[in-house]
Amino acid sequence: MSSHSPFSIKSTVSSTRIIFGLLPGLGSLILLRMAIHLYRPDIEDAEHRVRDYPFEHLYDCYDFIIVGAGSAGAVVANRLSENPAWNILLLEAGQDENVLSDVPTLFPVLQTSSIDWQFVTEPSEEYCLGMVNRRCKWPRGKVLGGSSVLNAMLYIRGNKRDYDNWAEMGNIGWSYNDVLKYFLKSEDMRIPEYQNDPYHAVGGPISIENFAYEHPITRKILEAAQQMGYNIIDVNGPVQTGFTRSHATIRDGLRCSTAKGYLRPAFKRPNLHISVHSLVEKILIDEDKRAYGVKFVKHGQTKIIKASREVILSAGSIQSPQLLMLSGIGDSAHLKQVGIYPIVNLPGVGINLQDHVAMGGHSFLFDNPYDNGTDYCFNLNTVLSLGNVIDFILNKKGSLYSMMEAEAMAFVNTKYQNPAEDHPDIQLFIAPTADNMDGGLFGKRANGLTDETYAELYEDILYEPSFSIVPLVIRPKSRGYIKLKDANPYSPPLIYANYFQDPMDIKTLIEGARIVDALVKQPALQEINARPNPHRNPGCTHHSLMSDEHLECQARHHSLTIYHPVGTCSMGPAENPDAVVDPRLRVYGVKGLRVVDGSIMPTIVSGNTNAPIIMIGEKASDMIKEDWAENVAEEVIYCSQVYSRQNEVANNSEENGPKKIQLSQNEAPNLLNETANLFPRLSHGLIHPKPNNSGGNGASSFSTNLQNDKEGKSLPNSYNSIHQFGAPDVDLNSYNWRPYPYGAPEYVFKQNPWRTNTMREPLPEFYLPVNEYPYVKSYSETPMRYKPVKGPVYDNWRYHIPTNRANKNRNKVYFRTDEVITPKGSKECKIWLYYDGMKYKITV
Ligand SMILES: Cc1cc2nc3c(=O)[nH]c(=O)nc-3n(C[C@H](O)[C@H](O)[C@H](O)COP(=O)(O)OP(=O)(O)OC[C@H]3O[C@@H](n4cnc5c(N)ncnc54)[C@H](O)[C@@H]3O)c2cc1C
Ligand SMILES: *[C@@H]1O[C@H](CO)[C@@H](O)[C@H](O)[C@H]1NC(C)=O
Ligand SMILES: *[C@@H]1O[C@H](CO)[C@@H](O)[C@H](O)[C@H]1NC(C)=O
Ligand SMILES: *[C@@H]1O[C@H](CO)[C@@H](O)[C@H](O)[C@H]1NC(C)=O
Ligand SMILES: *[C@@H]1O[C@H](CO)[C@@H](O)[C@H](O)[C@H]1NC(C)=O
Repeated sequence: MSSHSPFSIKSTVSSTRIIFGLLPGLGSLILLRMAIHLYRPDIEDAEHRVRDYPFEHLYDCYDFIIVGAGSAGAVVANRLSENPAWNILLLEAGQDENVLSDVPTLFPVLQTSSIDWQFVTEPSEEYCLGMVNRRCKWPRGKVLGGSSVLNAMLYIRGNKRDYDNWAEMGNIGWSYNDVLKYFLKSEDMRIPEYQNDPYHAVGGPISIENFAYEHPITRKILEAAQQMGYNIIDVNGPVQTGFTRSHATIRDGLRCSTAKGYLRPAFKRPNLHISVHSLVEKILIDEDKRAYGVKFVKHGQTKIIKASREVILSAGSIQSPQLLMLSGIGDSAHLKQVGIYPIVNLPGVGINLQDHVAMGGHSFLFDNPYDNGTDYCFNLNTVLSLGNVIDFILNKKGSLYSMMEAEAMAFVNTKYQNPAEDHPDIQLFIAPTADNMDGGLFGKRANGLTDETYAELYEDILYEPSFSIVPLVIRPKSRGYIKLKDANPYSPPLIYANYFQDPMDIKTLIEGARIVDALVKQPALQEINARPNPHRNPGCTHHSLMSDEHLECQARHHSLTIYHPVGTCSMGPAENPDAVVDPRLRVYGVKGLRVVDGSIMPTIVSGNTNAPIIMIGEKASDMIKEDWAENVAEEVIYCSQVYSRQNEVANNSEENGPKKIQLSQNEAPNLLNETANLFPRLSHGLIHPKPNNSGGNGASSFSTNLQNDKEGKSLPNSYNSIHQFGAPDVDLNSYNWRPYPYGAPEYVFKQNPWRTNTMREPLPEFYLPVNEYPYVKSYSETPMRYKPVKGPVYDNWRYHIPTNRANKNRNKVYFRTDEVITPKGSKECKIWLYYDGMKYKITV
């Protein structure tokens, strides 16, 4: 592996630079959040946002309980609740969508946020070698809409043959001709040229558009593709081989998750109860091996709710097998190992894990053909600039509408695949950017690249114009698996991705990279001097650039999940010993239990998985309706004593006026708190706003253990607190502080910041570090000295925060925000952000 010292200067400088960049990034997000609140009620959509059904009013028994409100679960909840005679409970571990997740460019930011489960694979010697602890990050949505809220919004159905193969494997009803109608049912095609096309439909819940913003480099790459002989086609149409501008699950340029598409229009139905923050710990199975309900926890309270007809498991490819195993369904030997009593021996649970894996870092530099300073490709500095935020807010345009991971894409055949079959084996993501263009704030964080890898690959080419064309294997031969770590429902399961276990996968990937080479050599890209990033992954420097060995090494170090794990509760006929569900998605060996989500795919589809999983949700809903058309629920057993469904339905039906339980109106959002809670790591120590107005001056205070450094004296009593000018209350000790790795800052204040009695008093100036920002010497426990960069020192107060690790108050963040009506009558939104001696102020 790497011969570099893990603490090389370059990687230290790089990681320091990134740490300093995070906070302005957070500031921009808060600013954006506030601006949306003020100017974009269309995004807030307060009227239609799903409201949580009160815990104390939940019934004891429902006809159907759906576990997980993701891409599939949201669809099923909507479709089953179309039948007013059925009561449906939808349980979701996460919260409602955040307004920021609507903004396409922010999609990588959502990873590692509080709406991400933040799974990681087990360490490997074969892949993700350039990632922290050799583990790949596997984000998954923990939110209404599930991973459709975190995803890159690419709308791809896969190849016809994928579904025909499923049918050939014994899955009756799943051929392409069978499933096409369900793709159409969910679709609202808004790209004019496809609206009257037998492969597309209008009026469905999920809107499809092209991304509203495209960077100029993307056009150039598509030009090169045509020069190479490829056509620009509809890859969701009759032929898949070719290039395309990406189709995306967006509405008016903004994310259209399944929560937006399927839950917002349905949550007011009286027979659909949606409960968020509700983590299902177990599916309950009786002695007849019938799933009769679930046990879940909400805000620390445990509840058991029964299902008279079915429990539907839609927890996604990682947690559906996890929950089955926790409930006693899985490989008996494994269950015994972790101390779970096996109820049904189904060895297929958790195996057959398949994912699309890409060769990351396949990036190219080019010369910007614009000589006026305008960007030709994505550049985070420009994207988060004030002008661009204003463009987004007021003019509804600009690069915040772009999704820079794949503005365009292609399906191509390597030499291993017969092109006549139109069953391409490689997908290319065409990205108008590379990880150097975001300074490490997006891609590095999301993928978990080590500091050293990032520094070696990108630090020397920061913000130099680049693009990436990343090849991914779309029908991998390798198979991974998921196991329980223990019997605790809160332990993340063990994920073994097993990328490249089959050598064909890496060979195919290398051939994919060769197709990219050929594309980059086309005149359109040579005109702008497109050339590979000359820097190699630190583990690959001994291979010559772009040799097969280098490309393999790159794929093993910079392995990127395309976030499509599937197959872990695979569908198959009864004679297949590894099948977990039958072709009607009923779990073998258990009554009243289905799995409906990505985990049921027997083989992964040749393309992104969201649209196929929505299709699975649509098809499953129809099958469930068919299966219950004649059958009668076993209410006698489970529900009769608890409530009378007929009565309840009659009392709640729309003809009989409003339902009895009124859902509370959404309260005005607490913007800082909400954003801080979304990014708990970024906003480490961010103050939750709650002005303490009882003091009369609008200021609130917290005590600190700041000390007068130079004289060694402690502060005069009266100065023992920092007034925050109407900013929030904070208890500095109540946060989970992490040590700040670069030593302690020393503050020099221009004026005594402690003395204040009015909100409008000028704010104190803060200063930058001595070691010229951002170059900090090294990781050390030695106190860093910070010197003033401007302004006179007022009365020589120097406050130095002690450096011992026990001191939790080192990296303080505080905020102040104001909504001001200007003399001209327009609204202004101001935000100040302080972090470790730096101050940011933004005004809109
Ligand atoms: C970062 C990222 C980018 C992606 N990009 C794309 C893309 O561009 N195009 C594309 O087509 N696909 C993309 N995908 C993949 C696609 O979004 C997923 O395959 C799809 O959303 C999975 O749907 P699902 O219904 O199987 O699971 P999910 O949508 O993940 O839903 C599972 C739900 O169950 C909930 N849950 C889990 N366990 C429990 C429990 N015990 N109790 C209660 N609730 C529980 C979860 O919180 C979640 O809401 C991406 C995925 C990610 C993560
Ligand atoms: C820079 O030049 C390009 C190409 O001529 C043009 O599209 C763009 O608007 C210009 N930008 C500015 C800021 O003038
Ligand atoms: C339905 O409404 C009627 C009349 O208001 C009431 O008597 C009855 O108890 C209600 N049933 C239920 C289950 O709430
Ligand atoms: C802010 O968030 C915290 C933690 O999530 C919560 O306990 C607190 O009540 C919230 N405060 C407000 C004012 O919403
Ligand atoms: C709010 O401020 C008043 C007066 O300064 C103080 O007495 C009170 O304890 C504060 N409340 C809280 C919750 O901090």
